[in-house]
Amino acid sequence: MTTNANSPQARSAGPRTLGKVRPHQTQNEALLFEKSSPGKRAYKLPPLDVPAVDAVKLLGAARRTTPGLLPELSEIEIIRHFTRLSTWNYAIDLGMYPLGSCTMKYNPRVNELVARIEGLAEAHPYRPESLAQGILEIFDLLQRCLLDITGMDAITLQPAAGAHGEFTGILLTRAWHESQGNPRKKIIIPDSAHGTNPATAAIVGYTVENLKSNSDGGIDLEALTRQVDGETAALMLTNPSTLGVFESQIHKIADILHAKGALLYMDGANMNALVGKVRPGDFGVDVMHLNLHKTFSTPHGGGGPGSGPVACKAFLEPFLPIPVLVRDQKGEEPCPDAGDWEDTNAEPTADGCPPLFRAPILKPDGERVGDTGPLPLHPFGGPLHWDYNRPQSVGRVRAFYGNTGMFIRALAYILANGPDGLRQTTEDAVLNANYIRKKLEDVYELPYKTASMHEVVFSDKRQAARGVKTGDIAKRLIDYGFHPYTVSFPLIVHGALMIEPTESESREELDLFVAAMRSIAREVEENPELVKTAPHSTRVSRLDEVQAARKPILRWKPQT
Ligand SMILES: Cc1ncc(COP(=O)(O)O)c(C=O)c1O
Repeated sequence: MTTNANSPQARSAGPRTLGKVRPHQTQNEALLFEKSSPGKRAYKLPPLDVPAVDAVKLLGAARRTTPGLLPELSEIEIIRHFTRLSTWNYAIDLGMYPLGSCTMKYNPRVNELVARIEGLAEAHPYRPESLAQGILEIFDLLQRCLLDITGMDAITLQPAAGAHGEFTGILLTRAWHESQGNPRKKIIIPDSAHGTNPATAAIVGYTVENLKSNSDGGIDLEALTRQVDGETAALMLTNPSTLGVFESQIHKIADILHAKGALLYMDGANMNALVGKVRPGDFGVDVMHLNLHKTFSTPHGGGGPGSGPVACKAFLEPFLPIPVLVRDQKGEEPCPDAGDWEDTNAEPTADGCPPLFRAPILKPDGERVGDTGPLPLHPFGGPLHWDYNRPQSVGRVRAFYGNTGMFIRALAYILANGPDGLRQTTEDAVLNANYIRKKLEDVYELPYKTASMHEVVFSDKRQAARGVKTGDIAKRLIDYGFHPYTVSFPLIVHGALMIEPTESESREELDLFVAAMRSIAREVEENPELVKTAPHSTRVSRLDEVQAARKPILRWKPQT
């Protein structure tokens, strides 16, 4: 690594702000071990007010004779150290985080408030069901909201991340094929899929067959028809794809697969482009996963644990992981406040979108006087319990029931937005991506002209002619105070710049980003070296990423 901030080039290049507020950069910070000096303490203990214990007698030979090598500092030194380090991090709370495919959207604080409610944060998974009905109602309500959003029939919340959801969904696929007498051998995956898809198929024991996209970035139906045969277990389709393209022929794709007894698996991690507009269950998907930590705002990417629920059609329901949440309805009367939920289907909205989790409010004579907001509690009000007696289940895929904290955050986000708010977030995410596309397409090459959904993918073709690659542009973006976009992915675009603004960004922030990207494009023309050697405003410049991956130094060792 090269120390960079004071190089002559850095001084002349300077941090480029274009009006953007930049995080404070502390240029140097020693390790706590290096700052340690003997005898310093960050605490004072009160005088002993219980009988002293003789450690030698108590521990015998197990007693430690040399003290542990720990840093010795005062309280304020420790506080300052960690506070300074925290300012080195880029975060969505500091500015736009356009990392394509990662949906780095803002996590509203109300989610955190709810997740920290004592009774929820400290709920123990071993609590008897009779004392856990509140948290089970939360699981149940989230499940029903997600089923409504996806248009699927059954769901498990267990998987702990998107890739884990894929694994679970393909396990269901395999179990179903096995129940039909043949697990089949291969899974077809388009070249525009997320990288975890082929890994998942291979881990579940399938051969991966690649399917080349057509010139629009979509599935080539004729090629698919030729490729699907009696040994095809499923097609794994990321939709919208990593190109940000919606698969407009999805119905036909489902028909081609189903005609040969194969299933359609949808990687639904990009549902932030679809929620409230269309439902995978309505366009032929058999099984899919969601990334709660992308679509429903809970922290993503190093920011916390994930959650990858898997939703499926009814025929796959017997194979869901155990335990499955079920409601005891025996002998229960409908709850008087719950409305007429079971008997009625809300109408689609005026523009044909699905009527997400609304129940009509009916007068006693049946006249519809409006809609409820979010789903009411279940109309039959019986207790919930975990069903382990499911002979066809693929078994457990995770300890306990999943990442409960993520469920609470996702449900808070869903309920706080409501059906119309969720639809609006989808529209805003797509609008923001298209705004960036329009503002940059004259300076960066747009390899696929198909309409963009939640993200837009450019290539570095024009800049590469001046010797500047996508990675260089991304590094230069750091000097302008932005987190880089996703570099060199998807692989089907050579030198890809993958940009996903999400719905969180205001027009002003998008304009700053556009100004930074346009300014870098100008620099590439006028002074390519400046971009090729960026970043210039950081504590260190380019890291040796291969060395860091192959020989990471993860702990401090005393100097000898
Ligand atoms: C389209 C897509 N599929 C799958 C995944 C994998 O999800 P996770 O990182 O939670 O395992 C991601 C992650 O961002 C994704 O964008």
